[in-house]
Amino acid sequence: MTSASAPAADHWNAQGYAQAARFVSDLGAPVVALLDPAPGERILDLGCGDGALTARLVEMGARVTGVDASPDMIAAARARGIEAQVMDAAALTFERAFDAVFSNAALHWMVDAPAVLSGVARALVPGGRFVAEQGGMGNVAAIRTAMIAVLAEEGVATTLHEVWRFPSPAEQTAALESAGFVVESIELIPRPTPVAAGMEQWLAVLAAPALAMLPESRREAARARIAALAAPALRDGAGNWTADYVRLRFRARLERAE
Ligand code: BEZ
Repeated sequence: MTSASAPAADHWNAQGYAQAARFVSDLGAPVVALLDPAPGERILDLGCGDGALTARLVEMGARVTGVDASPDMIAAARARGIEAQVMDAAALTFERAFDAVFSNAALHWMVDAPAVLSGVARALVPGGRFVAEQGGMGNVAAIRTAMIAVLAEEGVATTLHEVWRFPSPAEQTAALESAGFVVESIELIPRPTPVAAGMEQWLAVLAAPALAMLPESRREAARARIAALAAPALRDGAGNWTADYVRLRFRARLERAE
């Protein structure tokens, strides 16, 4: 899934994403179960990507609208027959239009949390629920540390906080409460994830917006160097990669006006 508030350039390619990152939607069953959509409910899928998981919500009988910042991903979602539009998650335009907002593997790209969460609150009816899974504190830590080191070697000083927000449960609870939500459940879940395509391919597809800080001519070598730095932590003796994913999964409810 992709950010609905990514930088203006579209770093996403729906076909490449489908080949290298189908596991992202395949692993979405627990957050769909937490959403527990009822037939006829109006649901906003925030950062819907190519709509693979959105289609599952539609099959369950919900009336779903998808939004994503990537025109290429929205074209792929529409090609599945999903109602979807390009929209910046930090400037959602919906008012009291949805019973639930759902998001899988996208919120961590939406780094302006107050703007995103206040838009989600506006989009929901009073008492509506916000159910999401995203990268949480410690997510892809070995990969991220290798990226920071290689970007520094290339003359780019960054913590990657401007690209990814991986909050702790306490941070996300405070952000949700500030936007008017009551948090019903929130859990940090380590989920080591096999990366069959290999680390360089993972970086090429899933870290493209971060590596766009480098000139195009430097990116391939940077991916190789990042993979070499991460290998002792994430590659086994047979050459299989496992990414150090940590999920933050939560269910929150918008407070009703008194
Ligand atoms: C994630 O889903 O946690 C993720 C995906 C791409 C880059 C970083 C994190």
